[in-house]
Amino acid sequence: MKIHICADYDEMSKEAARAVAGAIRAKPQLVLAVPSGNTPKGMYQELIRMRGQNHLDFSKVKFFLLDEYVGLRPGHPQSFRAYLWSVFLNYINVRPANVYLPDESYEETTRRSGGIDLLISGIGVNGHIAFNEPGSTLDSRTRIVELADSTIELMKTTFSPRELPRQAITMGLATILEARHILLLASGSRKALILARALTGQITTDVPASVLRLHSNLTVIADEEAAAIYRRNSVDKPEPIG
Ligand code: GLP
Repeated sequence: MKIHICADYDEMSKEAARAVAGAIRAKPQLVLAVPSGNTPKGMYQELIRMRGQNHLDFSKVKFFLLDEYVGLRPGHPQSFRAYLWSVFLNYINVRPANVYLPDESYEETTRRSGGIDLLISGIGVNGHIAFNEPGSTLDSRTRIVELADSTIELMKTTFSPRELPRQAITMGLATILEARHILLLASGSRKALILARALTGQITTDVPASVLRLHSNLTVIADEEAAAIYRRNSVDKPEPIG
């Protein structure tokens, strides 16, 4: 595991975007798995800027969405699909045919694409990654899951009671751990406790993010606030930035 602790959200976003841009330059036909949530927004904006300034070419990149709500009406503005197009894909030279949404044949589709080269994930306050809620099994694959009460509670701020999804479709933990390189992003004091548990606590599916430590090529990029407790807990000093 490599850990980069950045001064703030902006630096975290730039660091993450540099990692993605580097991977695309190294392999233009990159197979990239991307997350929902607020944490990656800054990274998406930085990648858009890189597209404009440095002509970062997304035309051969394949995008696999990590997860999606189940039960939302087609075109719902809060679907992950709509979110990703509105904050990112509409502003880069992606081919729509290269954008994949989770479905029942997702495992086969990722395999036929040569497997995921780089997978970017955020972390939920309950430790979920994508929508692998606490208790998800290590051998889990892409499937429909029941959302945890703690997750639904948080979603009540963005969904009306009538539309509030209770299920989602998500890549599984086994699917995620098959990626060649994993980038875990975390920002803000809300994530400090769960990030410390994921990085220094027991590896357990009660904290799904902790199983990422089983991966041989895990990079964590966090801002100071999110890394505060980890810093206190960790015995070995993290790699300095800059
Ligand atoms: C959502 C997503 C995850 C995301 C997590 C954290 O539920 N399914 O993929 O990582 O919540 O979201 P945020 O970055 O907004 O804190």
